[in-house]
Amino acid sequence: MSHHYIKFNNVHYTYSNGYEALKGVSFRITHGEKVALVGANGAGKSTLVLHTNGLLLPKEGSVNVGDIPIDKKTLPIVRQSVGLVFQNPDDQLFMPTVEEDVAFGPINMKLPPQEVERRVKLALDAVGASALRKRVSYQLSGGQKKSVAIATVLSMEPNILVMDEPSSNLDPKARRQIINLIRSFRHTCLVATHDLEMVWELCERTMVMNDGKVVADGNTKDIFSDIALLERCGLEQPYQAMLASYEINI
Ligand SMILES: Nc1ncnc2c1ncn2[C@@H]1O[C@H](COP(=O)(O)OP(=O)(O)O)[C@@H](O)[C@H]1O
Ligand SMILES: [Mg+2]
Repeated sequence: MSHHYIKFNNVHYTYSNGYEALKGVSFRITHGEKVALVGANGAGKSTLVLHTNGLLLPKEGSVNVGDIPIDKKTLPIVRQSVGLVFQNPDDQLFMPTVEEDVAFGPINMKLPPQEVERRVKLALDAVGASALRKRVSYQLSGGQKKSVAIATVLSMEPNILVMDEPSSNLDPKARRQIINLIRSFRHTCLVATHDLEMVWELCERTMVMNDGKVVADGNTKDIFSDIALLERCGLEQPYQAMLASYEINI
């Protein structure tokens, strides 16, 4: 199971325009943990997420998936372990139809046709998008694209699932479906999100980013009851956390 964890060690990343988006990020996520990554716009969440499967490589420091250090040589193995759902589904969907998009990963893995079919069906069911199977990907609504983008990653059956804003753009029913899916995912999961209500429901652990650094990392309940910290990082305490602290205080 050693390939089911991710470790960042002092990761720095500077974009080509000279902007330093990650300023020494270190953490470790162990097998089976569901971890939220929160922070205001521009805090560095997407930049961090893109390092989990080598789409960006650190300028300094290192990222490990299990005992494998991510570098150009290890990218193919790493990408079999880490499934990454991008913030923008248009970056993930490029085939003519939904079923071809979802089948793309398994076909690329050279799986036999029955196994490809099994995975496509399972993945579309899991996100509630079976009815979209024959549709043209680029003609879908934003929320439908999001669900299908998640299915394209699930069909590769990753050990580690990393999602960037999975619930943005989704209607309440689709959002609920994604929450249930993340809950039932048995392996490691890292979710970058603005949806703090979802975090409260799903993730025992939360990391808070601010200005390229992880400034807090701990139990979600503790983090969400620290109003000063949330304010400092441009976040608002979710309603359930407010209720919970009220119940504790009376
Ligand atoms: N391709 C890029 N080139 C230059 N700067 C970028 C690029 N992508 C993101 N940034 C900058 O890096 C910082 C972190 O961005 P990002 O990781 O997208 O934050 P978040 O996902 O938390 O909103 C922001 O200030 C953003 O403007
Ligand atoms: Mg982002």
